[in-house]
Amino acid sequence: MRAWRVHELGDPSQVLSLDEVDRPTPGEGQVLVKVEAAALNFPDVLMAMGMYQEKPPLPYIPGVELCGEIVGTGQRVIGSPSGGPGAFAEYALMDANAAFPAPEGMSPEKAAALHLTYQTGYVGLHRRASIQVGDWVLVHAGAGGVGSAAIQLAKAAGARVIATAGGERKVQVCRDLGADHVVDYTADDFVPVVKEVTGGHGADVVYDPVGGDVFDKSRKCVAFEGRIVVVGFTSGRIPEAPANHLLVKNYSVVGLHWGLYRTHDPAIVGMVHEQLLRLVEEGHVDPLIGAVHPLEEAPQALEALASRTTVGKVVLVP
Ligand SMILES: NC(=O)c1ccc[n+]([C@@H]2O[C@H](COP(=O)([O-])OP(=O)(O)OC[C@H]3O[C@@H](n4cnc5c(N)ncnc54)[C@H](OP(=O)(O)O)[C@@H]3O)[C@@H](O)[C@H]2O)c1
Repeated sequence: MRAWRVHELGDPSQVLSLDEVDRPTPGEGQVLVKVEAAALNFPDVLMAMGMYQEKPPLPYIPGVELCGEIVGTGQRVIGSPSGGPGAFAEYALMDANAAFPAPEGMSPEKAAALHLTYQTGYVGLHRRASIQVGDWVLVHAGAGGVGSAAIQLAKAAGARVIATAGGERKVQVCRDLGADHVVDYTADDFVPVVKEVTGGHGADVVYDPVGGDVFDKSRKCVAFEGRIVVVGFTSGRIPEAPANHLLVKNYSVVGLHWGLYRTHDPAIVGMVHEQLLRLVEEGHVDPLIGAVHPLEEAPQALEALASRTTVGKVVLVP
């Protein structure tokens, strides 16, 4: 089968090679899946550069989320490959108990995008940030993969959403996703906007995949008893929150590493999947697919994701 592989760490637009490799053989508790679509995630970029917390042994097949058909059963499932990356290929192995049914009638491209970012968003907003009806939720990089999912999930939870995004096109994407207010944070300071829009209350929940200055500024407009969810650091800088600032303003900074639930408490992943199926059924969740590329274009697609030009999810189709 054809599979992209990383043989040495570096810029994924340079170091990926499309190799002919053996189709993997499922072991105990695994299923072989014919990949129909694989969604890109920012961690694919970081992992190839050796800058992600997960460092698979080389060479490895990248790609952490997919939709495919279980060989021999024809059942369409979504999820992550067994034990790490492996989705940017024609076939992948999945753990049978972590291969979740794809929503009826949803295209493989959208279904591939329903797992990692939506699971992260649901756990982040509901479990880590205890989102409440009527909360003001500030979603950073709202037009991105993680951000677009968070806007839909926060609206579905009955919250009011303020999104930030870089540039007019992305601002419009956030509006179309249902955000109540959107700030182009590359042009305007979002802090006074959040204060004004919320009548001085501030954001009850901040969902932050960007970090750096965006995190620092979020601390200035978080509400009394607000929760800042640390989702990622696409800005490239890991910020810090002085403990005295948390004390005087009565807010929390909560960490979110969704992948850990797969080993610490796998039942949660299954329960969240059920919730996501319900939200799809009710029309609250509909993954935004910004681009679909043939599998051969993985390096270009990853380059676009890394250079901040994509919206929603980017998907590869073998
Ligand atoms: N904690 C978890 O469990 C978990 C799970 C999944 C993903 N994540 C993290 O969530 C983050 C977003 O992932 P994603 O796949 O959804 O990516 P994405 O949001 O589709 O793309 C990244 C976005 O970040 C923004 N950004 C701001 N500064 C940037 C910079 N210097 N370079 C590149 N982008 C920049 C850009 O939006 P603007 O142009 O609008 O600023 C860009 O579109 C990543 O850090 C990822 O590691 C965390």
